[in-house]
Amino acid sequence: MTNLALFVSGGGSNFRAIHDASLAGRIAGRVTLVVTDKAECPGARYAREQGIDVFTYPAHDRQPSDLLQALEDRECRLVLLAGYLKMVPPEVVRAYERRMLNIHPALLPDFGGQGYYGRRVHEAVLQSGQTRSGVTVHFVDEQFDHGPIVAQATVPVLPGDTPESLAARVLEQEHLLYPRVVGALCRGDISWDDDGRAVIDPAIV
Ligand code: GRF
Repeated sequence: MTNLALFVSGGGSNFRAIHDASLAGRIAGRVTLVVTDKAECPGARYAREQGIDVFTYPAHDRQPSDLLQALEDRECRLVLLAGYLKMVPPEVVRAYERRMLNIHPALLPDFGGQGYYGRRVHEAVLQSGQTRSGVTVHFVDEQFDHGPIVAQATVPVLPGDTPESLAARVLEQEHLLYPRVVGALCRGDISWDDDGRAVIDPAIV
């Protein structure tokens, strides 16, 4: 059983999708810690209701070493970013190299990076005139939305779409894709090629 840490700042629907998949036995892991910068966000509240420890970071007087210690105390082997809006401290990113994932609501490398979060991502996609958007799950490095991509799922952009309607279509795919990738990572079904690319069996996703 792999211990998982989820990082959230908002609704926490991806956290819930992963938590549900683990309770249903579709992921050989369990969520042992939720990290949030907003102690009262719905994701953090849900974690408490589920009896999962919540650690607030950043918070007054807390250092990156305290965050690392919190992860170590719960023996978290994987870190999963799910709508966490703060930068993860570089020492934590390094400690979890190839063990930290993020989900982004667009097809990276487009529409990612600093400032591309929430509604803004979907607004930018609509403004660009693209006919498709989607979801990207990628490993985390020290830049926003930048590390090696593991898997993507696409959705159409439809005539008359608003940022909200597109976001809802994308989010539905997020809830399918993220638990599958996490399940694969827990099983050891993601490997690395010589060029530093993450390799996952396309049949899994
Ligand atoms: C998702 O769209 C995710 O791709 C992005 O932030 C949003 C989080 O939503 N990184 P939720 O908190 O999981 O509902």
